[in-house]
Amino acid sequence: MEEERIVSAQRQSEDDSQVEIGLRPRSLNEYIGQEKIKEKMAIYIKAALDRSESLDHVLLYGPPGLGKTTLAHIIANELGVNIRVTAGPAIERPGDLAAILTNLGQGDVLFIDEIHRLNRSVEEILYPAMEDNALDIIIGKGPGARTLRLDLPPFTMIGATVRAGLLTSPLRDRFGVVDRLEFYNPAELELIVTRSARILNVKIENEGAAIIACASRGTPRVANRILKRVRDYAQVKADNVITGAVAEEALKMLQLDQKGLDEIDRRLLIALIEKFEGGPVGLDTLAACISEEPETLEDVYEPYLMQLGLLKRTARGRMVTSEVYTYLNITPTDGPQQKLW
Ligand SMILES: Nc1ncnc2c1ncn2[C@@H]1O[C@H](COP(=O)(O)OP(=O)(O)OP(=O)(O)O)[C@@H](O)[C@H]1O
Ligand SMILES: [Mg+2]
Repeated sequence: MEEERIVSAQRQSEDDSQVEIGLRPRSLNEYIGQEKIKEKMAIYIKAALDRSESLDHVLLYGPPGLGKTTLAHIIANELGVNIRVTAGPAIERPGDLAAILTNLGQGDVLFIDEIHRLNRSVEEILYPAMEDNALDIIIGKGPGARTLRLDLPPFTMIGATVRAGLLTSPLRDRFGVVDRLEFYNPAELELIVTRSARILNVKIENEGAAIIACASRGTPRVANRILKRVRDYAQVKADNVITGAVAEEALKMLQLDQKGLDEIDRRLLIALIEKFEGGPVGLDTLAACISEEPETLEDVYEPYLMQLGLLKRTARGRMVTSEVYTYLNITPTDGPQQKLW
């Protein structure tokens, strides 16, 4: 279900298309927002380059679609090295990782997405690799077995995950730089939308960009996806120009409200109000209510609702805040009005 949502922050198959890759910023300068991370990374990169050393290992974490993969590519670009891209679930055996590591060039970046999903035996290969640039190979079995240590070229490991807490502590401790990506503010998203519109060759007025930005849930991937749908609408219904009015009409057609909440978000909030008197209710129960996995609810839906101040996590479970009643235009005793705009 999550896959079909226009506001889903998770990657969808169309995001792998050439268009999506064309929208990726290629340098730190082009990368909008995340100012604190950018400032630090620029310093670390310059320092590493000045010393002709490899950059320390970097762990990037935060909700999907905020630009972790993009940033990893930018870091490699700015370092002037190659990047090898893989993902936790794709590395099945220790030998697979050993093969990747031995093929790295001097100073290269190894990017492992969903790094929390590495299996234990694979992860253990990483410890000496990250710490001592060494690969320990066990030869033989039983009492006669011995370890052979191979040197690896210095390299930079960049790991990405939704929550740093999902990593085992020995792995987490081996990253010298650990950074959390934050949701983007509307002004930053407006810049992202305007930049993407230019690349996609569609005219957009400031007001149109601002409306799309507000509905993008703090997430560049969502901003770009909405922009593409609004572009279709503008092309067919409105002379190919995204004005404020066109953006608003298109969002209505997509059943998104001004803050980018869709039917599922509203259903979740309303279920909390109607079935559980506003909460608290346990994560599993709430997830079952909207037929979703608890992890998806936790990592994908909740962060934005909490960011908006509509939902909170308490020790006893999830609760709506008092703001939710104003937001949904209902009084605590009323039924919901379901007014979108
Ligand atoms: N700071 C940014 N400035 C401009 N565009 C951005 C920025 N960050 C991300 N994007 C755009 O958003 C899209 C999604 O970003 P990216 O794939 O890097 O997210 P992610 O954090 O790796 O997501 P996931 O957790 O799903 O892997 C990119 O294709 C890029 O076009
Ligand atoms: Mg990614």
